[in-house]
Amino acid sequence: MNEIDTLWLARALHVVGVVLWIGGVAFVTTTLLPAIRSGFSPEQQLAEFERYERSFGRQARWTTQLVGASGLYLTWKMELWFRFTTPGYGWMHAMVAVYGIFTFLLFVAEPLFFHKLLRRLAARHQQLPMTVLTRIHWLLLTASLLTVAAAMAGAHGWNYSS
Ligand code: HEM
Repeated sequence: MNEIDTLWLARALHVVGVVLWIGGVAFVTTTLLPAIRSGFSPEQQLAEFERYERSFGRQARWTTQLVGASGLYLTWKMELWFRFTTPGYGWMHAMVAVYGIFTFLLFVAEPLFFHKLLRRLAARHQQLPMTVLTRIHWLLLTASLLTVAAAMAGAHGWNYSS
């Protein structure tokens, strides 16, 4: 496989990973969370959410790392490191930031303390965990979609400093 072929493949894997991962976040935010909040009693909502979120978490752990690895490969192969210190390429930092935030949530916060934190919030007020989860998901989805839009535009010629 020549160099150009590996770049196409890496770009394709990068975008397929983004679609699966951010598409899943969009489904959880706009469909799953509202359905659980309207379909279950307040005592059941958190347990129901965690039941469904567990399978998506497994998928998201793979897809985030696929996106990160293919992104690093693209940066290395196309020698794009200069963009991290050149004005006009803030979307490169945004991609790395979104990757870093999700990697922290999926590999550190979720297995180590996030569920305990939600239980503690539930002890204070039954509805609090679902309110917090909804807000976090909207925040992450908005940041991710803005990053997708900026990266798409940036990779195809947009440079806001020129
Ligand atoms: C470690 C993390 C990441 C790195 C190093 C990285 C790097 C890259 C690179 C080098 C490109 C090609 C740019 C170009 O052709 O000029 C790219 C494209 C792109 N990336 Fe990332 N990326 C990362 C994470 C992400 C994340 C988290 C998202 C989504 C939220 C994302 C969305 C995109 C999109 C939509 C494109 C445009 C694809 C195209 O039209 O060719 N990337 N990324």
